[in-house]
Amino acid sequence: MAMKKSDKIWMNGTFVPWDDAKVHVLSHVLHYGSSVFEGIRAYETKNGPAIFRLGEHIERLMMSSKIYRMEVPYSAEQIETACLETVAVNNLKECYIRPLVYRGYSHVGVDPRGTPIEVMIAAYPWGKYLGEEALTKGASVKIGTWARMAPNTLPAMAKAGGNYLNSQLLKLEAVEDGYDEAIALDVQGYVSEGSGENLFAVYKNEIITPPVSSSILSGITRDSVMRLATDMGYKVREAVIPREMLYIVDELFFTGTAVEVTPVSAVDRIKVGSGERGPVTKALQDAFFGIVKGDLPDRYGWLSMVPQSAAKR
Ligand SMILES: Cc1ncc(COP(=O)(O)O)c(C=O)c1O
Repeated sequence: MAMKKSDKIWMNGTFVPWDDAKVHVLSHVLHYGSSVFEGIRAYETKNGPAIFRLGEHIERLMMSSKIYRMEVPYSAEQIETACLETVAVNNLKECYIRPLVYRGYSHVGVDPRGTPIEVMIAAYPWGKYLGEEALTKGASVKIGTWARMAPNTLPAMAKAGGNYLNSQLLKLEAVEDGYDEAIALDVQGYVSEGSGENLFAVYKNEIITPPVSSSILSGITRDSVMRLATDMGYKVREAVIPREMLYIVDELFFTGTAVEVTPVSAVDRIKVGSGERGPVTKALQDAFFGIVKGDLPDRYGWLSMVPQSAAKR
């Protein structure tokens, strides 16, 4: 599936035409996976495009860079501004924003010292990750045979390009086997997360989600949903989840920038609850989409409005 191009990509401080945003084939990142990145959505609101939790995404980008000892040559504020400008110069409304920090071209060799730290930001139109229908009908998932990264191997808290080799194995297995998505277990056999999204269960009037120690990426949508659910009066708890619990819970849903809030309808072909989207999932979807689309007040300060004047640059 080809992606929709936009006009310009921000590369190391300047905008370059989409087709000219290139790297050398001997760039360190291509050979050793040395990159960290973010995935961010902007939504169309009645006051113009708004980027969801931009500050938290760039904060995580900086933390991922720190873990890999990458000295980012821009401040968080500069990267945030560049994200807003990238949406504006491309005249985008709803879009996906992809900032990437990577080790560029100087030498080939595992020791990355001396490689230039480069930064790019692209923004382009992007629809629903698992299709529009999944938001109501739910996704059919399987428990992947690949485990998530073991603690102290690849750091799961860093959103690093290399982690997505594990995600690709999980996703490929799932789609080749006729499922929409995979859920990974951690090395101890406890539930971790999807290939690119966090997981929540509704079980005996509680909302539970695996803790950061279950090799998950600490998702920003996960954090948003935990806050929304708590404020809506639900009991929310981080808990280590055994695999079999997924077969008996009342509701199951994914959260993530890509999937937003998407119900899971079946695990290993076993229906979750009745197999329909559950009431708690629906209530959280309504709260989430209400805020991101500007239909409900932004009471947590989650939206960064894209300055309209920047669009004329
Ligand atoms: C492996 C993984 N887990 C969870 C998430 C969800 O994180 P967020 O809600 O910050 O997008 C993502 C997506 O970024 C991911 O790639």
